[in-house]
Amino acid sequence: SCSSWASTSPDSSAPPLTGSHRFRSTSSMQGYSELARERSKTVTSFYNQSAIDASAEKASVRLTLATLLYSGKSPDGHHILSSAKYLHKELPVRIAHRIKGFRSLPFIIGCNPTILQVHELYIRAYHMLSDFPPIQDQVVDARFCKLVQQLLDDHKDVVTMLAQGFKECRRHVQVNAGTLNQKSFFCFVSKPDFVGIICRRLSPKKIIEKWVDFARRLCEHQYGNSPRVRINGHVAARFPFIPLPLDYILPELLKNAMRATMESHLDTPYNVPDVVVTIANNDTDFVIRISDRGGGIPHNIIDKVMDYHFSTAEESVQDPRMSNLFDSITNSGNQSNPMHGFGFGLPTSRAYAEYLGGSLSVQSMQGIGTDVYLRLRHIDGKGESFRV
Ligand SMILES: Nc1ncnc2c1ncn2[C@@H]1O[C@H](COP(=O)(O)OP(=O)(O)OP(=O)(O)O)[C@@H](O)[C@H]1O
Ligand SMILES: [Mg+2]
Repeated sequence: SCSSWASTSPDSSAPPLTGSHRFRSTSSMQGYSELARERSKTVTSFYNQSAIDASAEKASVRLTLATLLYSGKSPDGHHILSSAKYLHKELPVRIAHRIKGFRSLPFIIGCNPTILQVHELYIRAYHMLSDFPPIQDQVVDARFCKLVQQLLDDHKDVVTMLAQGFKECRRHVQVNAGTLNQKSFFCFVSKPDFVGIICRRLSPKKIIEKWVDFARRLCEHQYGNSPRVRINGHVAARFPFIPLPLDYILPELLKNAMRATMESHLDTPYNVPDVVVTIANNDTDFVIRISDRGGGIPHNIIDKVMDYHFSTAEESVQDPRMSNLFDSITNSGNQSNPMHGFGFGLPTSRAYAEYLGGSLSVQSMQGIGTDVYLRLRHIDGKGESFRV
């Protein structure tokens, strides 16, 4: 829904969002005991929510992206209302499924303050959305869009918070964060070439270049230099696709490739092998292969790299050749990359790829380098279409 967001100006006369009074921000509360009491009240309410239980029993109505692509722009704008109605019904169900996921976490993890904070965000979103009145006209639709936009904003850090929370729990238990790893919502903003979140003519090369620039800058900051990146294969390809998952996955894969390249050439940081990105496009899917010459992933850890929280980041810090570089990272570098060293890059990327009917696989040539294959299905391709 909400192709109208970009054109909707902030409207201070709009009534306050329903349900927003329910949850006070903990930062505004004084005194630890009050906070603890409030907390335990909230925790109890977490487990007594019959409306959420009922929604969690419903199946989510998944759409193919082709449906979104082709119903995206009707001249009279009725598509805006009908997709708002769809979201109004669908989002509480999907959020209830996520809440159910939180509830089935091992108790010790569910009690972690950071995890609890995310859990609370989802409950709050559930109530705000399900308390929202029926969407009959464009005025209400505009308010609904604002609510969804606000929620997207409130939820923008959840992946980082989950990573942080699970990291804190790691001592206590072996965690598999997979069930929580779906992005909360997809955002629909009006831009030329876009139907909602779908770009009608996405160029894989362009989007790769964008993230190459980003990853190289980060790499230069951390290691003083960065590998060059060559892009080959179907460099002229353009097709409809959602950039969002690529915007997550590509920087993760490029960061990994660059880090491996730099750390396997610590004695010759100004002479490092290129990273090569190959694009292959066909009627059914497209593949992006990222090849580095960073020495590969050793046999003894290859089975673990897809585990949430598996990372060799701590070992690198101990390498004396990197101490100077890492001093500068601990001062400033970490801020530019809050996900660094969580061990979330690969498993989360794979979760996104699989959610979209694709795959992510890693081939290591021990002693030489690593090839990562990201495979994603076309949204209007020959193969069976996937639903989101
Ligand atoms: N291209 C690669 N070459 C060599 N090792 C790799 C490569 N990609 C990943 N790895 C290994 O797999 C581990 C896990 O990768 P992953 O991206 O999931 O986490 P991370 O890079 O350690 O932290 P994060 O990505 O969350 O900042 C890395 O720590 C590294 O040891
Ligand atoms: Mg990584």
